[in-house]
Amino acid sequence: MLKPHFEVNSLGHLVVGGADAVELAEEFGTPLYVMDEIRIRENYRKFRRAFTRRREEIHICYALKANSNSAVVKILQEEGAGADVSSENELRLSLEMGIPGNSMVFNGNFKSTEELELAIKNDVVINVDNLQELKVIDSLAEKLKTRARIGFRVNPDVRTPTHPYIATGLRESKFGFDMSSGQALAAYRAAEGMENVEVIGVHAHIGSQILDPSPFEEEAEKLMRFVGTLKEELGITLKFIDFGGGVGIPYRPGERELDIEEVAERMISKVEQIEEDKKLEKHALFFEPGRYIVGDAGVLLARVGYVKERPGMPVWISVDAGMNALLRPALYGAYHHIELANKMNHTNDTLTNIAGPLCESGDFLGKERMLPRAERGDLAVIFDVGAYGLAMSNQHTAKPRPAMVLVRNGKSEIIRERETFEDLTRLDRIPTWLR
Ligand code: LLP
Repeated sequence: MLKPHFEVNSLGHLVVGGADAVELAEEFGTPLYVMDEIRIRENYRKFRRAFTRRREEIHICYALKANSNSAVVKILQEEGAGADVSSENELRLSLEMGIPGNSMVFNGNFKSTEELELAIKNDVVINVDNLQELKVIDSLAEKLKTRARIGFRVNPDVRTPTHPYIATGLRESKFGFDMSSGQALAAYRAAEGMENVEVIGVHAHIGSQILDPSPFEEEAEKLMRFVGTLKEELGITLKFIDFGGGVGIPYRPGERELDIEEVAERMISKVEQIEEDKKLEKHALFFEPGRYIVGDAGVLLARVGYVKERPGMPVWISVDAGMNALLRPALYGAYHHIELANKMNHTNDTLTNIAGPLCESGDFLGKERMLPRAERGDLAVIFDVGAYGLAMSNQHTAKPRPAMVLVRNGKSEIIRERETFEDLTRLDRIPTWLR
C-alpha cells in the first residue's frame, strides 16, 4: 500500500525517486532524510492547478516552516511559488533563492522590530496579528519613508478535526483578531487613521493536517462575509484574501486523501457567490500550503541496531533516529508509516515497536506495527516526513541532526550535510574562570 511515487525493485528494496533506498543509506549514512524532487513538483502543480482552473488570480505562497531546506525552496521558486515566511531567516532564505519580496507574506504572533523592518524594506505583505504590532509597523514605515502593505490575521472561529496543538482557528487560540466580538473590524478602523500602512488584505489560517473540505468552505464563507461587512460598514475594499495553509495528507495506509479539487471547488464557489451577492470586486486569493507540497515527498531512513524480544510482547527494535530526528510522534502522538526498506517483499509477521536511541520512554517512532522479523543491520523507512521532519529536529543528547539528500530520476545529491561534533560544540564557550 505504498503511495504511487514509490517502487520496489527486484531486490525487494524500496526505490525513492528512482534511487534504491538501501544504496542511499550506504552512500550517505543514516539517519538520512530523502526528498523526491519530482514529487514536490507534482504536489505543487496539483495544488496550483486545482485553484487556477477555477479562478484567475491565485498566489501560492509555500509555507517554509514545513521544510526550509534551500534546495527545496529553490525547486518551489522554479515552479513559480511565492513564500509564506515566519521569521527573518525564512525571509532572507527566500530572497536568496530568488523569490521576490513582493511575492511573500510574513505571518506570526511575534515579529521582532528587526524582522518587521526587513519585511517592510523588501515590500513583503505583513499579516498583522495585533494592534501593538500595527503601531510598530506604522512607525517603522514612517522611519523608512515608505508605506507598509498589510493584511490582518483574523480568527474566524472554525472548528477543525485535527490535533489541538495545530488547530489555530478557534476563538481561544493565540492568533489574530477575534472576528465575532468585533475586534477584527476595529483593527481595520484603527488602521484607517494611519498614513504609513496600506491595508490591502485579510488573512486566516484555521489549522494544519485537515482532511475534510468542510472547514475550508466555512473559512471561505466567514472571511467573505467579513470582507462584505468591511465594505458596508467602513467602505474598505481589499485586494487579497489569504486563506492560509492546512490541507492535510494521509499518513495511515488506507486513510482517505483530501480531494484538493473538491476543496478548491467549494472554496471558490463560496468566494464567487459572496462577491456577487455583496457586489464586491474580485480579490486575489492567496494560499499557504506547506505539508501538502512536501510532506509525502520525504522519507527518513534509519538503521536497525538492536532487536529485543520479550515474551508475550511486541519486539522492540532500536533504530538510529528518534525524537531528535523526527519529533512528531513524541510531540503529537503522530502516526508515520514504517517499513523495512530492505525487506519490502517479506511478510509482515512480527508485532514490532520501533524505538529511537534517546533515554526517554516517549522516544519511539511507532508502536505495535506489523513488520517483517527485523535483524541488526536492516533499514527502517519512515514515510511522510518531508514536512515538519528535519525542520523540527533537534540535537538532544548531542546527536547531530541528520543529512538530507535530494533524488531525481535515480540521481542523488546531498542538500544538507550531516552535522558534526564541531557543529555541535562550535557555539559553546568556556568562561574565563573555568579555564
Ligand atoms: N500558514 C500559516 C500561517 C501557518 O501557521 C501554517 C502552519 C501554514 C501556513 C502551513 O500549514 P500546512 O499547509 O503545512 O498545514 N508542526 C506541526 C504543524 C504546525 C503547522 C503550523 N502552521 C506538525 O508537525 O504537524
